[in-house]
Amino acid sequence: MSAVEQPVTPLERDAIRSVGTAHPRVDGPLKVAGRAAYAVEHREAPYDARPLHAWLVQSTVARGRVLAVDAARAVAHPGVVSVLDHTSAPRLQEGEDRELEVLQDDRVDFRGQIVAVVLAETSEAAREAAGLVEVAYDEQSHQAAFEETEDTYEPETVNPEMPARTEEGDVDGALAGAAVVVDATYETPVEHNNPLEPHAAIAHWDGEVLTLADSTQGVHPVAQTLAPLLGLEQAQLHVVAPYVGGGFGSKGVPHAPEMAVVLAAMTQPGRAVRLAVTRQQMFALTGHRTPTRSHFRLGADADGRLVAIEHEVLEPTSRWKEFGEQTAAPTRMMYAARNRRTGHRLVPLDVAVPSWMRAPGEMPGMFAHEVAMDELAVACGLDPIELRVRNEPDVDPETGKPFSRRGLVDCLRRGAERFGWSERPAEARATLEGDWWVGTGVAAATYPAMLNPGNEARISAADGGHYDVAIGAVDIGTGARTVLQQIAADALGVDASCIRLRIADTDLPPATVAGGSSGTASWGAAIVATAQRFRADHGDAPDPGVWTQAEATDAQSEDHALHSFGASFAEVRVHRWTGEVRVPRLLGVYSVGRVINPVTARSQLIGGLVMGMSVGLFEESYRDPRTGHVVTQDLATYHVASHADVRDLQVEWLDEEDPLASPVGGRGIGEIGVVGTAASIANAAFHATGTRVRSIPVTADRFL
Ligand code: MOS
Repeated sequence: MSAVEQPVTPLERDAIRSVGTAHPRVDGPLKVAGRAAYAVEHREAPYDARPLHAWLVQSTVARGRVLAVDAARAVAHPGVVSVLDHTSAPRLQEGEDRELEVLQDDRVDFRGQIVAVVLAETSEAAREAAGLVEVAYDEQSHQAAFEETEDTYEPETVNPEMPARTEEGDVDGALAGAAVVVDATYETPVEHNNPLEPHAAIAHWDGEVLTLADSTQGVHPVAQTLAPLLGLEQAQLHVVAPYVGGGFGSKGVPHAPEMAVVLAAMTQPGRAVRLAVTRQQMFALTGHRTPTRSHFRLGADADGRLVAIEHEVLEPTSRWKEFGEQTAAPTRMMYAARNRRTGHRLVPLDVAVPSWMRAPGEMPGMFAHEVAMDELAVACGLDPIELRVRNEPDVDPETGKPFSRRGLVDCLRRGAERFGWSERPAEARATLEGDWWVGTGVAAATYPAMLNPGNEARISAADGGHYDVAIGAVDIGTGARTVLQQIAADALGVDASCIRLRIADTDLPPATVAGGSSGTASWGAAIVATAQRFRADHGDAPDPGVWTQAEATDAQSEDHALHSFGASFAEVRVHRWTGEVRVPRLLGVYSVGRVINPVTARSQLIGGLVMGMSVGLFEESYRDPRTGHVVTQDLATYHVASHADVRDLQVEWLDEEDPLASPVGGRGIGEIGVVGTAASIANAAFHATGTRVRSIPVTADRFL
């Protein structure tokens, strides 16, 4: 069953009937009825094979060696089956990802690392016994505080493979001659992804095939990553993820807990092993956003036209596995300035490895850039929207390519009109209503349109005019199941009710990660290509049973810069005596190409705004430098925005399509909503109070 490669042409406008219409989620009824099985809820074979429960034992030192694991008391506990440690766990093949080398040696690289796994007949017994495992350490000195150290270095690349440093023109000369200069440092804290469903998996090994129901953003990526480490062929690793309760990037790559449950299952052939990572354990084991320190120097002429942009980033990585957040990446394409310099330097710390968190790079980087732009507007005596309009580039400053669509100014103008921007007083600290200082702020957003290669789909004709459409894509709650059905319907020229979609299973054609706002475009491209091929081969009235499998290639323009844009508007109220910060109004206007489904799109963008408000006002993890322990390891101490924080929240998008970015005409919507929101809140807080806050979260103490 070999895949057919062929170029794909965009969906024809006159063939579009389902795309763009407001389909409710096809899996909504199942979810609200509680009948959608999430990872550890699977009860069917082989997961019904008297499942065991795994519990993780985590290191209590930040760096050192495990001298001994004494499991005697744990093993004696009723219901306990075994305790695995680095001396007894199955051996892995050599790999390049230290994070997945679970229980392979005695080295401890960070506080909270997995040092043992308890297997028991019940979850309670496993948990109780985990507390009885005694681990002796040879503790070594560690560095867990984020501060510049002598180990600080410049990496070659930042996530995923961008150059760490870029330079064009004479930045220092231009700054020296600039009429106006903004020179300031902006900071974002450690943040932890907290999807509603914590990480979880259930694994079964029959001696030949490993079956894994995982809470992941990509079943094929999990199989592709784990199989070689386990010494298995791809076909021996069967991964499914039919329902996933969010990920925000933390489930974008497999982390140590997945490997732990797989290793545990391989010691118990014929039995299923369940692992439900606790909320507390997630703060050590499933990724986080590294803190960032962005030093900006902006130089402008007297009219506010930028002559120089410099963005130097200092941020931690883990000492044992490099992850460089691409914090300066958006700065490279955002505004016009002949002289530009961006760079990243990394401080290696003895901490868990940072990873993807919704809009990695863009979120912290654009917070810094957009507050700096607000400061420049004030310094130039210009309206912040006008400042941005004056600095619109004709082409992508970094690549010289034309933008497929540069929607920023349209977003700013539309948002200004809807938000009532013209009523805004030019001066800060101009409005006091009762005991509240009131202000408004704006910030721009951007996110690249990514299209991942390597996606395939299979379409088979079924009885009664139905089509079975299959692709390994995962719906992490975004609505992928619904929009892929719409895309398939239009590509085949049938009603959406004729499509029977199967997803989230490595037995289906390969699909890339539900991440990087790339899913709908990338999987959609494969479905469109396959449908075109299917119709060419089998016509519009195919015999039941005929099928086509194809791969999408060359589906995105290489001659254009492909980016979404947005404008975030915030109203902020700051209490004059307590400093309490409230956000009564948020509006986001976006240029994202064609919107496939306004119901699920609105949900994604609103969710982005809520998360943007959440990082703007609340989210901050505190790692105790003495121990390396993240002490804010629950939702009582790690605050996320709750219902009472969300007031009037509006999103809209421009009516457009972008066939250069993807065959479905869309550029992705999963992440852009979170970009720019925190900056608009900080800028509004300045407008309200006259106090400039250069770091998030924007907390009450800043105004006292
Ligand atoms: Mo998103 S951080 O690319 O899963």
